[in-house]
Amino acid sequence: MKRTEIKYLLERTDFGEIVNVKGWVRTKRASKNVAFIALNDGSTIKNVQIVVEVNDVFEKILERIHTGAALSVDGVLAESLGSGQKVEIQAKEITVLGEADPNEYPLQPKKHSLEFLREKAHLRFRTNTFSAIARIRHAMIFAIHQFFNERNFYNIHTPIITGSDAEGAGEMFQVTTLNLENVPKTEDGKVDYKKDFFGKPANLTVSGQLEGELAALALSKIYTFGPTFRAENSNTTRHLAEFWMIEPEMAFYDLDDNMDLAEEMLKYVIRYALDHCMDDLQFLSKRQQEEEKNKKQNERSMELIEKLNFILAEPFVRLSYTEAIRILMNSKPNKKKRFQYVIEAWGADLQSEHERYLVEKHFKRPVILTDYPADIKAFYMKQNEDGKTVRAMDVLFPQIGEIIGGSQREEDYNKLYDRIKALNIPESSMWWYLETRKFGSVPHSGFGLGFERLILFLTGMSNIRDVIPFPRTPQNLEF
Ligand code: 4AD
Ligand code: MG
Repeated sequence: MKRTEIKYLLERTDFGEIVNVKGWVRTKRASKNVAFIALNDGSTIKNVQIVVEVNDVFEKILERIHTGAALSVDGVLAESLGSGQKVEIQAKEITVLGEADPNEYPLQPKKHSLEFLREKAHLRFRTNTFSAIARIRHAMIFAIHQFFNERNFYNIHTPIITGSDAEGAGEMFQVTTLNLENVPKTEDGKVDYKKDFFGKPANLTVSGQLEGELAALALSKIYTFGPTFRAENSNTTRHLAEFWMIEPEMAFYDLDDNMDLAEEMLKYVIRYALDHCMDDLQFLSKRQQEEEKNKKQNERSMELIEKLNFILAEPFVRLSYTEAIRILMNSKPNKKKRFQYVIEAWGADLQSEHERYLVEKHFKRPVILTDYPADIKAFYMKQNEDGKTVRAMDVLFPQIGEIIGGSQREEDYNKLYDRIKALNIPESSMWWYLETRKFGSVPHSGFGLGFERLILFLTGMSNIRDVIPFPRTPQNLEF
């Protein structure tokens, strides 16, 4: 018999029909005459209730059914009074597809800590929390492609293995086929990269931007959506060594156009989540409220769905780095040295505590900061007339801090060349990038959205390790 996914089954009203469902047991409750099985197949956060009459046939089968087991159930679709759903299935035939020994299966029906579930990442999709996050991730991937497709952007695949450091931060994973036990050396004792796979040093990319720019300077509007890798040894709740980034790049856009696009995109995908993921959001909202019960009233986050609607309602605040520094230096936590990093002067790099102060305490809505000091930003950003700042923009969100980083790009060949030289970036790794400023150079802009930071915000989760199925962080490479 053809299987009906639970998501669709729960919408059916043709009671009396024989149906088939397949899925995994969440719970089993049995009394003398009747047993109830909650079955979930991942198509929705909701379970369907299977009602099983305890007779000679089913008694044997029920003994083999425990939380985690996989079943195929044929039965009568019936109107339900008690299960919390409108429909249930009265079992006629049950096949145990895969048993789960209750003495071994780790996800027994009780509350598990997120730390415990991280160690069980191979099974944690089977919990409500992680299946909800997986469905929301999917919806957001889809919404992002739809957003750009509707606006005539082309999706470009940029390389994952590169010979250049796009962000210039030197936080790259090296890729090599050299035998590390016996590295070939040149006469002067250096590693002989001529013998390596590519004939030169290679790394995993930190960003698709530079190649994205090449495409934008012909196709006008492009975006990338790919994995990026950073070997920064920061064990925070917002950093991964492998994460996904969305990087649009637009010819003829200045920084204002860039900010407009970033704000429009974030609001579009949040609206999409509210329109398409309500069951999962409601579950995550309840989860977050449970989690925060022990917090003080003023430390609790805004209710999740209210928070998402709130972001949609207001325009983001836009102000310069210089103004932000002024606000921060005059702020209570800075004066009372309550920030971990007290801001001493203009030029300081902003930490997430400062970003969150601006967003959560000062403005109480998302903030876009612009025109940062050149010294704390990447080489490719357009230099301002003042000789000190660049046309950078960071979008700052509550709970997250920086969710987007971007800029208008330096389109002037000489200025870009001088900056590359000043920062000792090898010209041999950048000649092709520089050439776009020689031939038909135009003003252009772009930004990068950290996909997992977006999912953190949307799900109300507090650790980035819980919003990607298999997190890669320092000293952690299990699954
Ligand atoms: O600010 P970043 O470093 O900007 C770039 O890579 C530019 N090339 C983007 C561009 O203009 N095309 O990174 C962009 C975003 C950050 O705002 C943050 O959301 C996310 O990527 N991000 C990380 N997310 C998870 N783990 C990390 N280690 C991250 N580093 C950056
Ligand atoms: Mg950044």
